[in-house]
Amino acid sequence: MVVNRVHVDYARNEKSEIRNPKSRIRNPESEIQNPESEIQNPKSEIQNPKSRIRNPESEIQNPESEIQNPKSKMTTLTLPGLIDPHVHLRDPGATHKEDWHSGTAAALAGGFTCVLDMPNNTPPTTDGDALRAKQRAASEKAVCDYGIHFGAGADNVAIAASLAAQCIGLKMYLDQTFGPLRLDSLEPLVSHMRAFPKEAPVLCHAEGRTAAAAIFVAQLFDRPVHICHVSRKDEIELIRKAKEKGVRVTCEVTPHHLFLTRDDCEAIGAGRCEVRPMLATRADVEALRANLDIVDCFATDHAPHTLQEKDSASPPPGYPGLETALALYLELVREGILALDDVIARCYENPRRIFDVPAQAETWIEVDAEAEWIARGSEMRTRAQWTPFEGRLLRGRVTRVVLRGATVFENGDVLAKPGSGKNIRPNFSLSTGEG
Ligand code: NCD
Ligand code: ZN
Ligand code: ZN
Ligand code: ZN
Repeated sequence: MVVNRVHVDYARNEKSEIRNPKSRIRNPESEIQNPESEIQNPKSEIQNPKSRIRNPESEIQNPESEIQNPKSKMTTLTLPGLIDPHVHLRDPGATHKEDWHSGTAAALAGGFTCVLDMPNNTPPTTDGDALRAKQRAASEKAVCDYGIHFGAGADNVAIAASLAAQCIGLKMYLDQTFGPLRLDSLEPLVSHMRAFPKEAPVLCHAEGRTAAAAIFVAQLFDRPVHICHVSRKDEIELIRKAKEKGVRVTCEVTPHHLFLTRDDCEAIGAGRCEVRPMLATRADVEALRANLDIVDCFATDHAPHTLQEKDSASPPPGYPGLETALALYLELVREGILALDDVIARCYENPRRIFDVPAQAETWIEVDAEAEWIARGSEMRTRAQWTPFEGRLLRGRVTRVVLRGATVFENGDVLAKPGSGKNIRPNFSLSTGEG
């Protein structure tokens, strides 16, 4: 009964919002400055996973929905500043690929006002010194807000737990990917799951069977776990099953796993196509799309490498993604798979809730939803200067970003000063010196 009522309310909301986008979108305050309304009631969607997407009469069968009608007034969308919970900004250690300035400039160009950075740097973010070095680099260069994920190693269990308050979450690599961070055995997986503060997020790069292991061990220790870049049918179906059983697992999906299959590798090029998890089959992509109702977050997994590296004999895995993501998310709306609200949930509300991202006052983005453009790596702000979506026609472009009341990006120009971005888990020891 309750479930049905939630469902009906959602359906009604979707319809009214799509038909009358101004009510919500032109008035960002209602959501941005008072985001609790939705965040404190997160269960409705997750515990009733079928509600929105499995039965979305509203937009799909409603040809008048604004996004599908180019003549509508939905040209300028005002949305909350997006949060990307999974980026690799490579600083320190590999600033020829990206640094805190180029990476956060790419974030603003893509509509993100907060990015959460991964720990597989050189050296990895697995101790206090490495964390401070990263905090310092970010504090000097970032133009959007940011948080830092800490890396789980084989013997930093106590250190990780003690630094949890300065980080967003603890990242565990349970499979081989770029960089040296990988937990090969059961013991550190168990120890970190036991020791890391229960209220702080644990995120796992876990493909196939390691995803099952991560979910199981997290449950044994009564803690939530977040599965990164889910890419396969069997994985998303396992996560659905776990959620239906009440297991506290959340997950994210990347734009490339929603829009590309391994068949695209021929056009992309073998080395450039390398990414972890690898691009999958059409059936996997369809399964992700069919299960979007239980996908909590969209994450770019922005993983820049240079073209020289990607085209070399040993190409590192990873794609840049910050500058193409929003147009692809909006493509899902045009395709009728998601409502605009569903995109906002996955790029803002759910990441905020899962990673405890503080509200950014007077912060929003303006998007020309109908602007058409061709993805060109050479025109991007990422130092990688390439994209797996090269040549693709995209629709939807960020025209303005306002962060804490200041216009930080407008019509292609980054206006924010390096260092104006804020660490959302400020490190007070930084101000006390330490060279
Ligand atoms: C990422 C990278 O390059 O840091 N590469 C990737 O293929 N996704 C690492 C990761 O997220 O697994
Ligand atoms: Zn710079
Ligand atoms: Zn990964
Ligand atoms: Zn990653």
